Amino acid sequence: MKVLGLSFGFHDSAAALLIDGRIVAAGQEERFTRIKHDAGFPHRAIEFCLKQAGISITEVDRTVYYENALKKFDRIVWASTVREQQKSAGGLRGKALALWNAATKPDGVPPYLKSVTHSWFKLNKFDAVGRISNELAVSRWKVAYVDHHDSHLAAAFYTSPFYQAAIVTMDGVGEYETAVIAVGRGSEIERKLAINLPHSIGLFYSAFTAFLGFEVNDGEYKVMGMAAFGQPKYYDEVRRLITLRDDGGFEIEQSCFEFLTPFELPYTKEFLRRFGEPREPEADFAVQRSDLPEDLTDIEAARVLSSSRHYADLAASVQLCTEELVLHLVAKASAIAGTRNVCLAGGVALNSLANGRLIREGGYNLFVHPAAGDAGNAIGAAASYYHRAAKQPRMQALASPYLGSPLDTAEIEAAVATSGFDAVRTYSSDEALVDHVAGLLADGAVIGWVQGQAEWGPRALGARSILADPTNPAMKRIVNERVKFRELFRPFAPAVTAEAASHYFDFETNFTAGAPEYYMLAVHPVRAEMKGVVPAITHADGSARVQIVTAASNPTFHGLLRAFERRKGVPILMNTSFNLRGEPIVDSPRDAIRTFSISGIDYLVLGQTVVASRVEL
Ligand SMILES: [Fe+2]
Repeated sequence: MKVLGLSFGFHDSAAALLIDGRIVAAGQEERFTRIKHDAGFPHRAIEFCLKQAGISITEVDRTVYYENALKKFDRIVWASTVREQQKSAGGLRGKALALWNAATKPDGVPPYLKSVTHSWFKLNKFDAVGRISNELAVSRWKVAYVDHHDSHLAAAFYTSPFYQAAIVTMDGVGEYETAVIAVGRGSEIERKLAINLPHSIGLFYSAFTAFLGFEVNDGEYKVMGMAAFGQPKYYDEVRRLITLRDDGGFEIEQSCFEFLTPFELPYTKEFLRRFGEPREPEADFAVQRSDLPEDLTDIEAARVLSSSRHYADLAASVQLCTEELVLHLVAKASAIAGTRNVCLAGGVALNSLANGRLIREGGYNLFVHPAAGDAGNAIGAAASYYHRAAKQPRMQALASPYLGSPLDTAEIEAAVATSGFDAVRTYSSDEALVDHVAGLLADGAVIGWVQGQAEWGPRALGARSILADPTNPAMKRIVNERVKFRELFRPFAPAVTAEAASHYFDFETNFTAGAPEYYMLAVHPVRAEMKGVVPAITHADGSARVQIVTAASNPTFHGLLRAFERRKGVPILMNTSFNLRGEPIVDSPRDAIRTFSISGIDYLVLGQTVVASRVEL
């Protein structure tokens, strides 16, 4: 049976193809269109999935959308009119009136509903099934949909290695739901508890993300990065906003947030009264004078240092409270399910600091779907339909995150031939390649590394990565200046051979395929005695977002780590995503050449071909 899962319309569109219980391909639209967080119909991702399987759309048995569009619109109308409903007409009549007003008298309705309704009518978002049927020229009967958190639950559980597990999904909001606790057993998922709007841990985190000057649905990682520079001095004030219920649920104090109708800002005047002025986007950030330009006056420098400390303390407080809430939800879910196997999905599952604590302090056997956000719901929608509607036996667990575009030799040759770079050398074996590249890395080069199929999910895992020497304390600055141009408070992550991981990092190694460390989704402490050995990947608080690599999970990358160890004594590389700031991760050889040519990367490795930027090979 062939099931195509689609996620599109809001952010991070994606497609995934499931054939007879095996994920054959999965790709995010942004990689193909080069538009970050592309929300459009995923034509290119669908085309890629079908091509990988060698089939046409007519051979697909069912195409499944990742949420219930009408229920979502119902929530938007409900949210926009909730105050009006309290005052006068309630229930269906209130909603119908509001919708009618939005469509016919746009001046008389709340601005949020007006703007949202306009886009919904324009794109016919109400009828996702009809839109898919039209775009793909397939019968409506071959298109289905599943609820948003059912997609997350399926992505979390069915792709995990567990027969039985507790499942927790957490995000901003789906239709109405923002978090769900369920129990998975074989092909069955049984829901136990759902949290609905306005209570949302995802929106709570995003509100602080916006307050701290970052883009919502993109800058949440930056809050995590900034938290390492602060102390949770505002813990009490932030914690007061959250009530943890005995049944595993939670509530968020609403006076501070604008979750229902976030037309402009997701927080209120009351929030500002409690937490002060929001941080300016792109404002300078520094925790020591030496990080600031020398021409800054002492008064100006003192102001930057003081405000940086204040916002870092707030980020640390928000992060700590979020971790507590996640630990609370997971503890309850684990108790209900009677197992320490835990599966997570939803955007909040990308909180790698919380995941690290679940592993170290909770002792859970954790599985996090590598594309835990809404892109992952392309797999989730297909998997949910496959098991729950089509009643098929349990699908195969996710064997690898390398589900994206393959690396085509002809494309490499064509891209290199037209690149204008003439220092090019192609190796005949992986052994010779990794030995040469390890030498370049050991000599201080920054390498663009493109191998095999692209990664599924937001992290670069050694298929579309930028690599550098982690033992060089200046390397973080070098990579930032040459290619990433990102905020100095953001850490760079390490890739390490699985065999050596516990020697450098303080966590219990669980080498079961599918552990979050395979997907760079858990932060762990760097061992005290190793912080000085790998300074470029040790964050301000002594932690690192570790990726473990085995000879089975990624043989070429593992070979490179071993070759680097022979040169420098450390089987670790700095591994960051291969993209310029604000752009999606590169996908094709052409994308890689383009990024290479306008950045300060020293060498580009495309399969077994090495291209030099300035110097001889
Ligand atoms: Fe979601």
